[in-house]
Amino acid sequence: MFSLKDHTAIVTGGASGIGLATARMLAGLEANIVIADLNEEAGQDVVSTLTAQGHDAIFVAANVAIADDVDALVDKALEKFGSLEILMHFAGVGLEQSAVDTTRETWDRITAVNLTGSFLVMQAAGRVMVERGYGRIVAMSSMAGIRGGTGRTAYAASKGGVAAMMRVMSVEWANSGVTVNALAPGAIETALVKKMHDAETRRAYLAGIPMDRYGTPDEVAAAAVYLALPQSSYITGVTLPVDGGFDAGGVIKRR
Ligand SMILES: NC(=O)c1ccc[n+]([C@@H]2O[C@H](COP(=O)([O-])OP(=O)(O)OC[C@H]3O[C@@H](n4cnc5c(N)ncnc54)[C@H](O)[C@@H]3O)[C@@H](O)[C@H]2O)c1
Repeated sequence: MFSLKDHTAIVTGGASGIGLATARMLAGLEANIVIADLNEEAGQDVVSTLTAQGHDAIFVAANVAIADDVDALVDKALEKFGSLEILMHFAGVGLEQSAVDTTRETWDRITAVNLTGSFLVMQAAGRVMVERGYGRIVAMSSMAGIRGGTGRTAYAASKGGVAAMMRVMSVEWANSGVTVNALAPGAIETALVKKMHDAETRRAYLAGIPMDRYGTPDEVAAAAVYLALPQSSYITGVTLPVDGGFDAGGVIKRR
């Protein structure tokens, strides 16, 4: 029942973590895959593995914060596969830094990739999809963009901004066959989190997660793939938590 045959999907951040898991799952449903990432070596490896398994996949080296890279990425996807039905925009960078310690440099770096990058990629893909009358865009927000917490001024602002922008695009494109949604993962075990979460952060996070564990990249990928299906046609403008109940949780008694 669920197939993405003849659909082409750009997966930014597809060389690692949630993007990688999503690319694998989309390929499993027979989508053509365009991995876009800064990390050329890891990205090429992903493409080699997918290709060896019989999937159609290409790698495009791109920095999502650079408009020329983004335009070239969309051009290459169209050139290779002739269409663009799905955008999974997951490239992003994290930072744990208190509000008083956040420098202008780190603010600019985080917002350039996470917020401006999202604008550039979603706009470029959206233009093609709106013109062609069909599309599924899944952006990457975060629980950090919805709830407060320590050490996340720039990151939270960038991810809250993604959710706000997603809602506007979803409304503007609602009659063009293009749905625009976002994921809001909680704590997911990836390379980014291994760098960002020390033991104390992990303890503090787990105390607020009713399921009492971090999520896996595959658990986020499954939500992303759901929003990429033709069958998800009446869902737009949604920020979907994938968080083990973190957003719902308040006081949690463990026994
Ligand atoms: N892991 C979590 O707990 C979590 C929670 C909420 C949101 N997120 C978001 O999910 C997304 C994926 O995170 P992940 O945990 O899989 O991280 P990850 O570090 O494993 O993967 C991120 C990928 O993005 C790429 N990337 C970074 N900057 C880029 C740029 N400027 N241009 C192109 N590619 C770039 C990296 O090379 C990497 O391959 C990020 O947007 C992150 O903010 C993650």
